[in-house]
Amino acid sequence: MTRLGVNIDHVATIRQARGGREPDPVSTAILIESAGAEGIVVHLREDRRHIQDRDLKLLREIVTTHLNLEMAPVSEMVNIALDIGPDLVTLVPERRAELTTEGGLDVIKHRDKLRKILNNLHKNNIRVSIFIDPDSKQIEAANEIGAKIIEIHTGRYAESHTKEGQIIERENILNSALFARNFGMNVSAGHGLNYRNITSVAAIKEIEELNIGHSIISRAVMVGIERAVMEMKKLINEAYAVRHLA
Ligand code: PXP
Repeated sequence: MTRLGVNIDHVATIRQARGGREPDPVSTAILIESAGAEGIVVHLREDRRHIQDRDLKLLREIVTTHLNLEMAPVSEMVNIALDIGPDLVTLVPERRAELTTEGGLDVIKHRDKLRKILNNLHKNNIRVSIFIDPDSKQIEAANEIGAKIIEIHTGRYAESHTKEGQIIERENILNSALFARNFGMNVSAGHGLNYRNITSVAAIKEIEELNIGHSIISRAVMVGIERAVMEMKKLINEAYAVRHLA
């Protein structure tokens, strides 16, 4: 089955809007796991705009599935990852003014720095994924610096407003996933995925994990987090079943 990782940053966004204790991303994580998600994802940003260090510490204690820490490739975050020991680190680009992660990491440009961080985390038995655009040159560079896992940025697919554009972007994701698998890499995907656009990405056999945040938390506001997670799991499982019949 394709695994679902639920990003809970926006539970913390709501909490930070009032600076209090509610809603707590930690108790949300427990409900998400009991609803059938295979992982919890958080992005500890350098500006701490949503997830806080306290959340990460508590999540490490209570998450029983898989804790994926998204972080910028900077020494402050590497030290936190080494201290906390998440199941996976996902290296993402980070710009202070952005609303959300815009685009994948430029592995070609930051090759040497990323290689060092990857080696350091691997040496300390932390698995590392690199968030990159569906671009064969970036995937080649990721392989060259020793990445074993990539997460393909699905933002351009999610933001395509025409059927044709969506088909082209979906093809890019598929070709990138195939390209990465040929190097023996594990492939995840995420960003901008929602209840309407998930099926054709979830139907790609080479993608083993989907990481979804905003759409699930938005739906949870309407129907509750457990139902929101179950509905997304159902769509992913149905796409998985169809691809195995094909
Ligand atoms: N994967 C990565 C690496 C991300 O940075 C994000 C956004 O935090 C997501 C997945 C989830 O994106 P969305 O909130 O649009 O579902």
